Amino acid sequence: MILLDNVTKYYPGESEPVLDSVTLHIQPKEFVFLVGESGAGKSTLIKMLTREEKPTSGKIMVGGIDYDYLKKRHIPHLRRRIGVVFQDLKLLPNRTVFENVAFALEIVGVSNAEIRRTVPKVLDLVGLADKGDKFPGDLSGGQRQRVAIARSMARQPKILIADEPTGNLDPKISAGIMRLLEEINNFGTTILVTTHDAEIVNQMRRRVVTIQDGKIIGDQKSNGHYYLDAERANIAKRPLANSPRSAAEEIRNATNSPRSNAHAAAQRQAEAKVVAQKTAKTAAPRKRIIQ
Ligand SMILES: Nc1ncnc2c1ncn2[C@@H]1O[C@H](COP(=O)(O)OP(=O)(O)OP(=O)(O)O)[C@@H](O)[C@H]1O
Ligand SMILES: [Mg+2]
Repeated sequence: MILLDNVTKYYPGESEPVLDSVTLHIQPKEFVFLVGESGAGKSTLIKMLTREEKPTSGKIMVGGIDYDYLKKRHIPHLRRRIGVVFQDLKLLPNRTVFENVAFALEIVGVSNAEIRRTVPKVLDLVGLADKGDKFPGDLSGGQRQRVAIARSMARQPKILIADEPTGNLDPKISAGIMRLLEEINNFGTTILVTTHDAEIVNQMRRRVVTIQDGKIIGDQKSNGHYYLDAERANIAKRPLANSPRSAAEEIRNATNSPRSNAHAAAQRQAEAKVVAQKTAKTAAPRKRIIQ
């Protein structure tokens, strides 16, 4: 369980909060996308959960750990519960793939014998069983991303957080990474993923939380779509009278009700395409700036 209650964060010297009264509750085993424009506060929200940053005010609880009572000596315990795939991967360039994954276990005191048993299993899970002796620099972007996922999974965390895991990958490789995350989710791991990839979000139909200027402006509990504007990201708040047919259609999507016919499915696909095209126009240039 992940709980942020009224969390506000100011970075030192800043007059505007980077997170503004954020309240978010994620149940065990959920798969949640966190979307928002570049600079909206996604990575900062994740840093609150990994304790890389502390909130200025508000409450955070993860996996039964109340961060108000978190002491430095508890941090390794926390890191066992949460696996993180960082936006910049943070792989060790001079260590092999095997060693990169093993390192995650070494630092929490796992025995060498257990490391030798565990690492091949995790590499196998991410489809890199034959790459253990390669260095990160010898791998493709998608393979490097898989190493980062393997490393975050090695300690068998209950929660896996991935910050832009498909950041600079082509669509086919991105889809493979998302399938891997889905598989991990099927084992019972809670997944929180930030992404700019509208197409993937629209295909996967999971819960979608939208953040804008540090505020959560939308939370589509299921069957969510990639919308960055408050009106569409939080359709439950939209008055039906404005656009009866399409609002009802979207609410059916959001509540997971069975759809009536193939025409509706085709229409939904077409809508998703339009959204993907629109967001590609806005998100893609930003993505290039940040990479
Ligand atoms: N350590 C820091 N000190 C001061 N400001 C920061 C710091 N880290 C991030 N910021 C600012 O906080 C805002 C949110 O940054 P954050 O990295 O959370 O955005 P993001 O939603 O993850 O963006 P992206 O999609 O580009 O990764 C940005 O305006 C950023 O410049
Ligand atoms: Mg980020």
